Amino acid sequence: MKIRSAEITMSAVNRAQYPDEGIPEIALVGRSNVGKSSTVNTLLNRRNFARTSQTPGKTRTINFYLINQEFFFVDLPGYGYAKVAKSEKEKWGTIMERYLADREELCAIFLLVDIRHEPTSDDVMMYEWIKHFGYKCVVIATKADKIAKGKYQKHFSMIRKKLQLDKDEKILPISSLKKTGVEEIWKEIISQYNE
Ligand code: GTP
Ligand code: MG
Repeated sequence: MKIRSAEITMSAVNRAQYPDEGIPEIALVGRSNVGKSSTVNTLLNRRNFARTSQTPGKTRTINFYLINQEFFFVDLPGYGYAKVAKSEKEKWGTIMERYLADREELCAIFLLVDIRHEPTSDDVMMYEWIKHFGYKCVVIATKADKIAKGKYQKHFSMIRKKLQLDKDEKILPISSLKKTGVEEIWKEIISQYNE
């Protein structure tokens, strides 16, 4: 995918702040620290477009990145950070629910999980939410450089089983360190927003 332009257009908490041009959206969700910002940077082939150095659990806004004037990457706040107060978690829930309920522009949600580990109960909850709201889910297995390629299938099975993915839902690996998996994910993004 040739990136002609990428701009951060919006940091939103309320519906009124969301873009309203009817441009398709692909959202990224996952635990804090799972590699969401790194994945955005890797896909865009930029070093520091989405910030990777933020304190975990501090991102409490929805960031809209307009790519090639064609679609938005929507960077949703991360979850599962242990030290976050209950009131913060409630705020997170409100922001997420407001966005996920009835978002016509949203073509698919990419759920990011760490390739090494069994998905957490928060990941399972997030997957169930995605299904509850009726969106398509694609799982991105991050930090793929941390295990040998020969082990990918075994880890995919573990992830698939824990999340109870539907048969037709994909798991695609990415390594932001080694820049692998990028083309396959672009193919998936393009097919999702052109459907
Ligand atoms: P929050 O914004 O806090 O929710 O985190 P995030 O999901 O955006 O994670 P981020 O991209 O900031 O990455 C978290 C840490 O994981 C950083 O130290 C990254 O360098 C590291 N990391 C991300 N992707 C990879 C990867 O593919 N391989 C390796 N080895 N490390 C990675
Ligand atoms: Mg981030």
